[in-house]
Amino acid sequence: MRRRIVAGNWKMNKQFAEADDLINGISEQLREFDTTDVDVIVCPPYPFLELVSDVAEDAEFFVGAQNVAHFDDGAYTGEVSASMLKSLGVDYCIVGHSERRKYFCETNEQIAEKINRLLQQDITPIICVGESLEEREAGKHFDVIKQQVTEGIFHLKADDMQRCIIAYEPVWAIGTGKTATKEQAQEIHAFIRNLITEHYNDDVAQEVSILYGGSCNPKNAKDLFAMQDVDGGLIGGASLKAKDFIEIACSFE
Ligand code: 13P
Repeated sequence: MRRRIVAGNWKMNKQFAEADDLINGISEQLREFDTTDVDVIVCPPYPFLELVSDVAEDAEFFVGAQNVAHFDDGAYTGEVSASMLKSLGVDYCIVGHSERRKYFCETNEQIAEKINRLLQQDITPIICVGESLEEREAGKHFDVIKQQVTEGIFHLKADDMQRCIIAYEPVWAIGTGKTATKEQAQEIHAFIRNLITEHYNDDVAQEVSILYGGSCNPKNAKDLFAMQDVDGGLIGGASLKAKDFIEIACSFE
């Protein structure tokens, strides 16, 4: 079933003491506000996963990582495997974020490998897709997203597809303050859902939550989340303030 989801991607921000404050702030805010129908996920940097996981034991949120190795455990210096994440109590993991595609040259093939490894460990992948400004201006956004979805995700069997979350994050909207309009978001979300229907079937498409990401904040979240195919958000900057993050999680009608 499509779930309402708000996930915070802290990216490479915060020192240990600040991360401690932030996660305890989020935990307190969650006690104050009713987010019963929403899955709240917090994705801190690797070194803070255990801290966040400990707080999550007594709080109403789930723990996510921001990345995972596309290899199984072994001699891969600097990498972190899906089984390691599992051993820390991680339930979700962001995959294929545009920053990883851009700065770390991640390919759709590697993203497919990461998704496989996460599913093997029963960790839910939050798979990011989205076009750059040049691609949108050239009218190529549908083609780009279709290719990312087809090459990165559609190798999965229907049962596994249903276990994934997709995040549409237009690169031009990330960290720029320039949010996609609710109509632009809905258009792409419906397009992605339709791709799933065509490749699998409508039952599968109705199981997959599709999140919007890119300058989502407490002011614009309500309008975006009200759109038919928008099931929630993947939040960057605004997830670094406990109050803003939980306000976004309370933005569903
Ligand atoms: P911002 O919310 O800071 O634009 O970041 C979005 C994002 O990249 C979440 O993964």
